[in-house]
Amino acid sequence: MSDSDSSRSDSTVVYFAGRFKSREEACVSIDDRGFLFGDGIYEVIRVVEGRLFRRNAHLARVDKGLQDLGIRLADRERIRIQDILDDLIRENRLESGQATLYLQITRGTSHPRKHFHPPPDTPPTILISATPFKPNYDLQKNGANAITVPDLRWARCDLKTVNLLPNTMAAQQAKERGAFGAIMVRNGVITEGSNNNVFVVMDGTLYTHPDSPHILSGITREVVFEIADEAGIPVEQEPVPEKVLPDVDEIIMTGTTTDIQPITRLNDRVIANGHPGTIVKVLQTGLKQKMGIR
Ligand SMILES: Cc1ncc(COP(=O)(O)O)c(C=O)c1O
Repeated sequence: MSDSDSSRSDSTVVYFAGRFKSREEACVSIDDRGFLFGDGIYEVIRVVEGRLFRRNAHLARVDKGLQDLGIRLADRERIRIQDILDDLIRENRLESGQATLYLQITRGTSHPRKHFHPPPDTPPTILISATPFKPNYDLQKNGANAITVPDLRWARCDLKTVNLLPNTMAAQQAKERGAFGAIMVRNGVITEGSNNNVFVVMDGTLYTHPDSPHILSGITREVVFEIADEAGIPVEQEPVPEKVLPDVDEIIMTGTTTDIQPITRLNDRVIANGHPGTIVKVLQTGLKQKMGIR
C-alpha cells in the first residue's frame, strides 16, 4: 500500500478518491455527482476467511453498471480495484471470520452543477471499504416476519445504483413494524425485497420474478438457481401475484448480506406451519457449502 496515509486516526482503513485513508479522513466533495444526483453504482461483496465470494460475478455487475450508465473507468483503475479489495481485507485484519466489502463508483466531481454529464475524462470517484460481518444464523434457522409494501422505484431496478430512497423507505417501514424486511409489490406482483430477492415455494417448485428492469438480478439468486439445479428442485422465473402469498408453502429472501432467509410470517400472519420449510433448508446448506462455511 504505497500511497497509504501515515496519519490514520482509527483502525478502519478505506480507499477513497485515489488514496488509502482512515474512515474519518475520507470526505466527499460537495460537487460529487454521487452526492448531488445519486449518479453512481455500488456493490457489496461477502468475504469468508479472506476470500471474496463470487468475486467475478460482482465485478462483472460493476462493469455492466458502469457501461449502462456511461461512467468510464480506465483499465488500470479497474485492475487496481481488484488489488485494493484484497489490500483492504489485509489492512483491516479481516482475513479470518466474515466481512463485507463495499465498492462505490460515482461519475466524479464537477462544478457548476449541471444535470447533463461532465466531460468524459472526469475521473470517477471510487470508494472501497471493508467491514466485519456477522450473519444472523439464529434468524436464518428460525424464520422471520416480513411486510409487503408498494414498489415505488423507477424502471431500471436492474442497475445497482446508489439511488436507494424507495428501498430505504421500505426497510424503515419494516423496521417500524418489527419485521425483518419488506417485499415490494408492483402492479399486483411481488418484485423483490428492499435489499434482497424473493422466492416462494408452491408444490415443490421455486418461483421468482423473472430477470427484468423491475428487479436487481442478485448474485445470491444465481447461486440459488445453481443449488436448486444440483438438488433437482424445479425453478420457474414467473411473476408471483401478491394475492397468492398467504397460501404459499415457503417464502424465502436471498442476498449477499441476507444469505437465505426463511420468511415464516407475512404481515404478522403465519405462512404454512410457521416454521422454515424443507426447500429453504436445502438452499441454506448449499449456500454454506459454496461459501466454505462449516
Ligand atoms: C434491491 C436488491 N435486490 C436484490 C439484491 C440481492 O443481490 P445480491 O444477491 O447480489 O446481493 C440486493 C442486494 O443488495 C438488492 O439491493
